Amino acid sequence: MSESRETAVPRRPKGEPRFPEGPAPDPAGSHFERRIRSFQPRRSRVTPGQGDALRRLWGAWGLDIDGQRTLDLGELFGGLPVVLEIGFGMGEATAQMAADDPSTGILAVDVHTPGQGNLLSLAEKAGLTNVRVANGDAIILLREMLAPDALDGVRVYFPDPWPKKRHHKRRLIQPEFLSLVATRMKPGAVLHCATDWEPYAEQMLDVLTAHPDFENTVPDGGYAPRPAFRPLTRFEGQGLDKGHVVHDLLFARV
Ligand SMILES: C[S@@+](CC[C@H](N)C(=O)[O-])C[C@H]1O[C@@H](n2cnc3c(N)ncnc32)[C@H](O)[C@@H]1O
Repeated sequence: MSESRETAVPRRPKGEPRFPEGPAPDPAGSHFERRIRSFQPRRSRVTPGQGDALRRLWGAWGLDIDGQRTLDLGELFGGLPVVLEIGFGMGEATAQMAADDPSTGILAVDVHTPGQGNLLSLAEKAGLTNVRVANGDAIILLREMLAPDALDGVRVYFPDPWPKKRHHKRRLIQPEFLSLVATRMKPGAVLHCATDWEPYAEQMLDVLTAHPDFENTVPDGGYAPRPAFRPLTRFEGQGLDKGHVVHDLLFARV
């Protein structure tokens, strides 16, 4: 028998979760909902370090978006004001912001398993206690699991641009999403978006400016200067390498 066959990891029986004590695959069963999603369900490789973090740390710092209960954010974050970050990717910027501002809790949501492991690992290394990693679709989190006026802010950094015209309907920042997210934000809480995709930036500015529940924090309208607290994100770096221009938008809930 060849060495690679002897040392091969046994195949997991079909239907068994990859991480029994970690994030559940499709926790709300939303892959069977007939709905346009802003992400493509995908299986991605999890490194041994990310897998180890998922196994050890998920129970303490992770939560599945199962759509079955309303979260008590006061209890989850020990009374800190809470900002929701949608689509944290690999989580480097999230960990940085949490370390820079321990007086704010970050509820970080993504569907991407390697990123969840990566963020847990970064949070552990930095000794962070103000980050929770939520697994699943942000829409279900907002719709089913957050109380009205629960959030002190929302961050959407470099959401998937879906550049093809037939995919524009998958873009997250649309009037319907804004109406939902507004109900979960406290009056005055800020929705902060950033993108390096010019046509998406224009769409964001148009729909946010037109939406009755939001008001531009820039008095004369338009894009905002990049706030010092937002670190460079992984996707932003890739966009800058291609010569893209980055826009920030900061709109307060009316
Ligand atoms: C282009 S990446 C940007 C990641 C990161 N913010 C950055 O700038 O490097 C967008 C991320 O949003 C996540 N995402 C898209 N739609 C989502 C949704 N409805 N719920 C949770 N995560 C979502 C994707 O899985 C992906 O990781």
